[in-house]
Amino acid sequence: MAQVKVTAAVAGQERLAEGIYSMWIKEETIASQARPGQFVSLYSKDGARLLPRPISLCEIDREQGKIRLVYRIAGAGTEEFSHCQAGDSIEVMGPLGNGFPMDGLEGKRAFLVGGGIGIPPMLELAKELPCEVQAVLGYRDGTLFLEKEFQAAGSVYIATEDGSAGTKGNVLDAIRENGLKADIIFACGPTPMLKALKAYALEAGIPCYISLEERMACGIGACLACVCQSKETDSHSHVHNKRVCKDGPVFAAEEVEL
Ligand SMILES: Cc1cc2nc3c(=O)[nH]c(=O)nc-3n(C[C@H](O)[C@H](O)[C@H](O)COP(=O)(O)OP(=O)(O)OC[C@H]3O[C@@H](n4cnc5c(N)ncnc54)[C@H](O)[C@@H]3O)c2cc1C
Ligand code: FES
Repeated sequence: MAQVKVTAAVAGQERLAEGIYSMWIKEETIASQARPGQFVSLYSKDGARLLPRPISLCEIDREQGKIRLVYRIAGAGTEEFSHCQAGDSIEVMGPLGNGFPMDGLEGKRAFLVGGGIGIPPMLELAKELPCEVQAVLGYRDGTLFLEKEFQAAGSVYIATEDGSAGTKGNVLDAIRENGLKADIIFACGPTPMLKALKAYALEAGIPCYISLEERMACGIGACLACVCQSKETDSHSHVHNKRVCKDGPVFAAEEVEL
């Protein structure tokens, strides 16, 4: 699968919640090749910010040749992207990374667990998985985003830290409170959430795939800025490392140390 680096057109942008934006980019080659769990690198127009910013694919519209990115303003790069409007150009490279495994899941029940800004990458997965989808979405407070779009793909359970919507607590509290069961887990979110899900999956004896959003530099496997500790040695560097950008961002939970 060939990745491309192109100047693409912004097809539209809207603000979903305080500091959270949704941008559609018209880019047929990326849209035609991309799969859930992959990401793109977005380049700033400011020469002082050379490194691209990795953002996961939230939706892939292959018919119209568009990709959707949902991101939180974290610093100068994402702040700049939030000002893009339909018709503006943006430099983008992708699709990058491996994506979620989706084979052999017919007739199974899956938990799609997203925490905070780890929620967006689960949406395209929810739409494409060939099995029962139970989306468990964790937010800080009642400022929800994307939850209605998940409802079109399966059942949705919400957890908020302050209890202002859904279960008060974290995603595991929502799973327990609703008596949910699954045969497989897919997750993206903060490390403590991923750690807890890894332990839950181990205890339940079910596979768990997690998407890691480490800090990155090159985004294409060349610089080792994004390595995480792995159980097995890496075929590239022959040490206990995995490059999140190239070997991931999706890993079987037991493969990586969190
Ligand atoms: C594979 C991958 C997929 C991602 N997908 C999304 C997504 O779909 N939506 C989204 O909002 N964000 C996503 N991120 C995080 C996003 O890349 C960073 O928020 C962004 O690069 C920050 O750039 P900036 O210039 O705005 O901020 P910077 O000025 O670079 O950083 C601002 C602050 O954010 C912290 N930060 C930067 N990058 C990360 C990171 N990767 N993880 C945690 N903290 C970070 C910095 O330490 C700093 O404190 C993803 C990251 C990876 C690696
Ligand atoms: S960011 Fe350079 S190897 Fe992953």
